[in-house]
Amino acid sequence: MLLLESSFSLFIGRFHPVIVHLPIGFLLLGALMEFFNSKVRSKNMDAAILFSFRLGALSAFLAAFMGWLLAGEGGYNESHLFWHKWLGITVGLVALAAMFIKGGVLAIPDFIYKILLFGMVSMLMITGHLGGNMTHGASYLTEYLPFGNSEQIVEKKAFNNPDSVFVYQDIIQPMLEKRCFECHNEDKSNGGLQMHTTELLAKGGDGGPVLVSGKAIDSELFRRITKDPTSKKFMPTGGKIHLGYEEVKLIGWWIDEGGDFDKAISDVDIPKDIKQILEENWKVSLVKKSFVETANVTPVATEIMTGLTDIGFTGSPLASGNNFLDIRYNKLGETPSNADLQKLLGAKEQITWLNLANKNITDEMLMTIGQLSNLTRLQIQQNPISDKGITSLEGLTNLETLNLYGTDITDAALASIEKLPNLKKLFLWQTKVTTEGAEGLKNKLPKLVIVMGTSVAEKS
Ligand code: HEC
Repeated sequence: MLLLESSFSLFIGRFHPVIVHLPIGFLLLGALMEFFNSKVRSKNMDAAILFSFRLGALSAFLAAFMGWLLAGEGGYNESHLFWHKWLGITVGLVALAAMFIKGGVLAIPDFIYKILLFGMVSMLMITGHLGGNMTHGASYLTEYLPFGNSEQIVEKKAFNNPDSVFVYQDIIQPMLEKRCFECHNEDKSNGGLQMHTTELLAKGGDGGPVLVSGKAIDSELFRRITKDPTSKKFMPTGGKIHLGYEEVKLIGWWIDEGGDFDKAISDVDIPKDIKQILEENWKVSLVKKSFVETANVTPVATEIMTGLTDIGFTGSPLASGNNFLDIRYNKLGETPSNADLQKLLGAKEQITWLNLANKNITDEMLMTIGQLSNLTRLQIQQNPISDKGITSLEGLTNLETLNLYGTDITDAALASIEKLPNLKKLFLWQTKVTTEGAEGLKNKLPKLVIVMGTSVAEKS
């Protein structure tokens, strides 16, 4: 993957936004000509359409390749990137098909061909729109909308984390429901035991409570499912399908953990064997939730946001129904002053993503930025920043992504970076950090992904 990480590949990649206009133009032109050509068929027109599709397919693949290189730079909204990338590649493939059909190499019914062209143009638009969102921010098109309140136009950034999972409700109860409820429900209370509500299950049966909190072995329910299956007391009775090995283990774990009915997976201890069962057999993702998903902040005051907009910052909500902000500086051809940056402190709570790439950010300004304690992503690449400045970032305990590429930092800065407990991704290429330095950091923070010019530190 060396090609993807060298600065030359990035040099090529940066032409992506220029080249993408070619397939858009060629393919749209081809499709339009085809549309107008269908009434009066003309040979010249057919040749021109074929020519457009050829150039369109070629430039689409060229653009896709360059985009692929550019994506190596990182820092893009991952779900946008995913769709943009694959839709872009699909457009190239469909354009190729259109070219073959038009050239007579491939024969399909005319109406399917028309649908194909329609699909191609639609995908082209969506791909372009997603691409635009990634570079200019989602509100770029609607920012100056002549009607309506542009502030309300918010895009939803997807989170990859699953919703919280409840131990009893989501894991234990479904098993009991499948294997036990038919004999222990509102109509049938065998042994006096009903299980269909948590209250009744907690109450127990004729022999008293069947759950002893924290002690699976002393719990009648657990005893019944771990007896010799030939025993009369074994549950389920009547030759019904038994609980599986993993199911019995999970029930035992749940009771040992207290047998609570309202605890989330994140509230209980999960031993290694249980973790494996949950992840592999139950497909439960045990990835810890990110700061942005668990924390709650009040919305930023309108005056503060207006003040920031006036001096060149743009802010968009990280997700709908969430008050965290994604801030960037957008004043064309200008860079923010330290006084400008200090104004950000008014939205200290809400700012969680900050992009100041290539904005002449200095060590002194980092002292201000270091106070934005809710930052989870900081992009300060291509700025005159040195090791001294990085010490100001040590307090950013929520920081997950830090882009320092193209800055003057050396191995000395790593001592500060090491203090960032939640850092997951660090971009260091075109800095003076050595491979040995990066490897040392990687040893200390094994889960950190370090993106270097050479791929040494990236292998995990
Ligand atoms: C086919 C019907 C049937 C199924 C299915 C069934 N049970 Fe039972 N269960 C009974 C009968 C009958 C009794 C009463 C006789 C006994 O105590 O063995 C009973 C009694 C019990 C008791 C004892 C209650 C007490 O206080 O005496 C427990 C605990 C129990 N079952 C748990 C379970 C569990 C857990 C499951 C699911 C894994 C289950 N049962 C599935 C029929 C069933």
